[in-house]
Amino acid sequence: MDIKNIKSEFPIFKQKINGKPLVYLDSANSSQKPKAVINRLSNFYETEFSNVGRSVHSLAVTATNRFEETRDKVQKYLNAKHREEIIFTKSATESINLIASSFGDKFIKEGDEILTTELEHHSNYVPWHFIRQKKGAKIKFAPVNKRGEVEIDEIKKLINSKTKIIAVTHISNVTGAILPIKKIVDLAKEKKIPVLVDGTQGAPHLKIDIQELGCDFYAISCHKMYGPNGLGILYAKKKWLEELPPYQGGGGMISEVLKDKVSYADTPTKFEAGTMQTADVVAFSEAINFIEELGIKNIQNHEKEILQYGIEKLKKNNSVNIIGEPKERGSVMSFTIKGIHPHDIATILDEDGVAIRAGHHCCQIFHDKVGIAATARASIGVYNSKEDIDILCNAINNCKKVFNI
Ligand SMILES: Cc1ncc(COP(=O)(O)O)c(C=O)c1O
Repeated sequence: MDIKNIKSEFPIFKQKINGKPLVYLDSANSSQKPKAVINRLSNFYETEFSNVGRSVHSLAVTATNRFEETRDKVQKYLNAKHREEIIFTKSATESINLIASSFGDKFIKEGDEILTTELEHHSNYVPWHFIRQKKGAKIKFAPVNKRGEVEIDEIKKLINSKTKIIAVTHISNVTGAILPIKKIVDLAKEKKIPVLVDGTQGAPHLKIDIQELGCDFYAISCHKMYGPNGLGILYAKKKWLEELPPYQGGGGMISEVLKDKVSYADTPTKFEAGTMQTADVVAFSEAINFIEELGIKNIQNHEKEILQYGIEKLKKNNSVNIIGEPKERGSVMSFTIKGIHPHDIATILDEDGVAIRAGHHCCQIFHDKVGIAATARASIGVYNSKEDIDILCNAINNCKKVFNI
């Protein structure tokens, strides 16, 4: 496979949108799927489908093996120490809710503090808000600076003896800032504070070595990593998973159920209640194969080149105001155009086959801070090219013409 021709691996690009070739710049929202993943999904349903971890018939045994093989693959891909540290969830949102709920219930009490940042997606704020309400805890927000980054010193200033957990994003889905996770973890370790990383925008674009990063929890969105929709991963250190109470109750997660007592299975099963997304988990193996075949470093270099080209080109357009100027930026470019609402930008760009997102991107705290209700966001995936950026910039000019700007 060659990155420069990688679009051919994605069937979605065969079609036209509004009569134009599809320029997909919404991968921070959800990525498109390579044919290997789509084929594995349909092939699994055609020949191997069964529920996992329950029946003993041949199909069930094979499906269970395939499901667990994906766990092994994810463990290896992330360089996690133990396979039991990989939990399958429905999304990164569910991964964070799981920790906020289980950790919050057991370890957070009135007056305790949860340290987060002004850059967080609602998925890494609202679950902590629930705990704030339930336990009478406080949430502290490390401020975002003018470049759209969160500085390590701001985190340092807010840590105190009441801080019970630090919950931060790896990469902002609005400014693209890459947060200094390793430094945050080192700081937290000195004070024995666990760190949860919202890795939703990190895992699809960066090499993740979870042991090197050293965080306690890392939430992943498989659907942003060229994998099936409706699938997420929670990485959590084994010691926590052994200590934390289950998040949901139901079939599969128990050891013994009696009228007067229930005991739970060992991790990871303890956190995987009910029927799991068998086919999606199995097909996610192919998404990892896809990334590994290309090489995450090659993907990163390719995306960096397209991103830099995009930023430079957008900067040349006097009407475009790029949001944030982080020193280290992931694959997102958010922008506004004076006089055109971001939703109008997205709608008009769509007429040229260009798919971007507009809105607050589930980051209202950040948008409130910078005093804008919404932004337009173009985000890059492995299949994007400089030509896509040229088409984006032409479409922006067409949009300006519509508004006489
Ligand atoms: C930074 C960040 N965190 C969390 C999420 C939520 O991820 P999921 O869709 O897997 O729940 C997103 C999705 O856009 C995101 O960008």
